[in-house]
Amino acid sequence: MVGYDKIFENNRKWLAEKKAQDVDFLAKLSADQQPDYLYIGCSDSRVPESDIMGLEPGEIFVHRNVANLVVSIDMNVMSVINYAVTALGVKHIIVCGHYNCGGVKAAMIPKDMGILNPWLRNIRDVYRLHQDELDSIADEHARYNRLVELNVQEQCINVIKTAAVQQAYEDHHYPTVHGWVFDLKTGLLKDLKIDFEGILKNIQKIYDLTGNNKLR
Ligand code: CO
Repeated sequence: MVGYDKIFENNRKWLAEKKAQDVDFLAKLSADQQPDYLYIGCSDSRVPESDIMGLEPGEIFVHRNVANLVVSIDMNVMSVINYAVTALGVKHIIVCGHYNCGGVKAAMIPKDMGILNPWLRNIRDVYRLHQDELDSIADEHARYNRLVELNVQEQCINVIKTAAVQQAYEDHHYPTVHGWVFDLKTGLLKDLKIDFEGILKNIQKIYDLTGNNKLR
């Protein structure tokens, strides 16, 4: 663990290394950002998104919260998605969960968690949506891992439900939405390969916000 007093020293070392690798580092850092990726992940300290993706400053726009949730009345995540899509024009939106997620674990335990109840409710709702599949998994750890994956899938669907994403995709065929899980035991990212086009088509039967719905 790095002590608090070491952090500013580390910062100066980091800067020196970056400048040694690229003389234009600071000029690039202070220029306007044009990231291709929006990453929505868990707040967990063990999932440092830029490091595991090998990306540099300026390449990824980031939102993190407990258990990587995309909730339609959360002004924070909705503002991030809207800005990333309409102002930055990101090409890809990634929802990344991780195995051993404390938020998902807490949601599997039927217990009053105080202020966390309304937040965890979103994950309990994912369990309810997929109860038949989850209850058929006898091994508790395997069930927990599967809920992590299904939570990512449902949060991808929540991203696709937004007007910003639907309208942008209709206008210029991006962004596309991806669901990933980071495995803390192997250090590897797993692409869940969600069917973006299929999900979009399916949810637009109910959630079409492009303004082109013939029924209206
Ligand atoms: Co987590």
